[in-house]
Amino acid sequence: SAEQQLNNIKITITAGPTREAIDPVRYISNHSSGKMGFALAAAAVAMGADVTLISGPVQLATPIGVKRIDVTTAQQMHDAALAQATQSDIFIGCAAVADYRVAEVAGEKMKKKADSALELKLVQNPDIIASVAALTAKRPFTVGFAAETQNLLQYAKDKLARKKLDLICANDVSGTALGFNSDHNAVTLVWQHGEQALAPQPKAELAKAILQHIYAQFSAN
Ligand code: C5P
Repeated sequence: SAEQQLNNIKITITAGPTREAIDPVRYISNHSSGKMGFALAAAAVAMGADVTLISGPVQLATPIGVKRIDVTTAQQMHDAALAQATQSDIFIGCAAVADYRVAEVAGEKMKKKADSALELKLVQNPDIIASVAALTAKRPFTVGFAAETQNLLQYAKDKLARKKLDLICANDVSGTALGFNSDHNAVTLVWQHGEQALAPQPKAELAKAILQHIYAQFSAN
């Protein structure tokens, strides 16, 4: 049945932010709530899939039936994602991965110095989804997200090509009613030979619609 159309399909999903330490008490992160990734995981299980959810630090309960792997940093998420990806049919990168981490994490709490600015040196984190899409053996059908505040479709298409993804979910985060931290979202799906706008709706319903389109493209590949 349509309800169980993901039977025997293994899906790995990344969700939430990553957190990059500055010192033992401070970190760099972002506003990702993890809600979209968790909604995708719950919907995928309801559709019969075998789901592994790799989550950064979020305040969300694990959907029933989902295998959850908790990580903190981008490097940890990268290692967990690559290990799962080669055992998956479909990989969905929904996490808001920090692009940079602090070059040298201080071992002790940093002290404020009177009247002086502080410079932090940042180095780039690995691009997790690009690493998954670059796999030559056991490469899963690879789906990314592009959260943008401007030039949404153009940036999404650039990312689809640059990261060699099979499909990308373009997500306008310029407003406050949709996207980050909201329970509603709207996305436009873009793949090499087509695109499909999905109307604004609760993340739970949107997740199901996204998965149906992903499955259609996965099956057509
Ligand atoms: O380039 P940008 O961060 O906007 O790309 C977003 C997409 O790339 C999302 O699917 C996100 O999960 C993924 N990503 C990643 N590793 C990074 C940065 C982004 O997997 N270091």
